[in-house]
Amino acid sequence: MSSLLKKISDLKVNFEKGQLLGVDIGLSSVKLAVLSEIKKGKYRLDKFRSIPLSEAAIIEDDIQKPEEIIDALVRILTEEKIGKKIACLGMNGPNTVTKRLQVPDGPMDDVEDNILWESEQYIPFGADDAEISFSIIRRIEEEDVVDAIVGAARIDVVERYQELLKEAGLTAKIVDLNVFAIVNIFELVFENSLEELSNEGAIIIDFGAQYTSVIVYKNNGPVLTKEVPIGGVLLTEEIQRTMGVSYDEAEDLKIHGDDNGNLPEEILGILEVHIEKLMDELKKVLNFYIASGSSEQVGRCYITGGSAKLPGVKESLEELINIDVEEINPFEVIGIKKAFDEDELDDIASSGLVSLGLAMRKI
Ligand SMILES: Nc1ncnc2c1ncn2[C@@H]1O[C@H](COP(=O)(O)OP(=O)(O)OP(=O)(O)O)[C@@H](O)[C@H]1O
Ligand SMILES: [Mg+2]
Repeated sequence: MSSLLKKISDLKVNFEKGQLLGVDIGLSSVKLAVLSEIKKGKYRLDKFRSIPLSEAAIIEDDIQKPEEIIDALVRILTEEKIGKKIACLGMNGPNTVTKRLQVPDGPMDDVEDNILWESEQYIPFGADDAEISFSIIRRIEEEDVVDAIVGAARIDVVERYQELLKEAGLTAKIVDLNVFAIVNIFELVFENSLEELSNEGAIIIDFGAQYTSVIVYKNNGPVLTKEVPIGGVLLTEEIQRTMGVSYDEAEDLKIHGDDNGNLPEEILGILEVHIEKLMDELKKVLNFYIASGSSEQVGRCYITGGSAKLPGVKESLEELINIDVEEINPFEVIGIKKAFDEDELDDIASSGLVSLGLAMRKI
């Protein structure tokens, strides 16, 4: 493309409106989802594609192999024939944070100032280096306060990811947090019972490759989000080391088992230790919400993410928290355009959930 044409197409992006492409760059893969809103609040999945990333393409937020991520995005856009260029990009990890807080009710300008001022102390990477936004969840009239949720991400990290998207011809019009994307899907799926869920309180956990993200949902929004740096990739690496196989072989063994579809003895041992370690960490994060007799005890638990499929995760979690655990199925409410096959939908429901939540956004 000549530079003039490129400039014109860049310009066109600025006028593009509507549903955004949901882009989730995870440790294990790049996922892109396209939804359309067929009626107010009714969505349909038009396109979804996930392209696996090689070992160590990203370490924490350090993008080691930018070309690979750009290529994956370009391939998705071309092969899925996606003409749209405006995206909602999801962020997670230690360079992001959320905080639920309450400030005195009053004129909107004061409320905004108060929320921003109050939130500064909760941003571990420093408010000066952070992109901060918030949303008001409700007003509590008896206490004359406004209840809000704040989300923040480190500006330099956000910019690095935005630059990557740009290289692939995309513009990230909205940068969101993955935990908020999950909450959006959660609220959509449970729209009809949300009031009850919200009063009772629910734990939502995304078991990813790098992180296990925990959300506690109560009183109409998240009251806690926390990312534990333990995910499926640690298990893959351990299998690699113990069995002397490559990263890809270890990944395949972990997901599909041996020739008979069984997990070898060695892996079962490693898996048990891994899950135990993960549950110990989850216990620390959730203690306040699961301890019997605690006034904050919650009543439901929902899971998602590729590593939620690890044998034993659901059962160990149920044992830990003493609540039934259910996988979130977005397709209870989101329609499907193309004939995705059953396995594909199952993967989208777990690994792709964040990208679906991001794709719910529009401008
Ligand atoms: N059927 C399965 N059984 C066990 N593990 C699985 C299965 N399917 C996927 N995984 C694991 O799930 C992880 C990928 O899940 P997901 O796509 O949710 O993570 P991610 O978004 O790339 O990671 P993160 O959000 O932590 O950056 C990988 O570690 C993969 O090995
Ligand atoms: Mg993820």
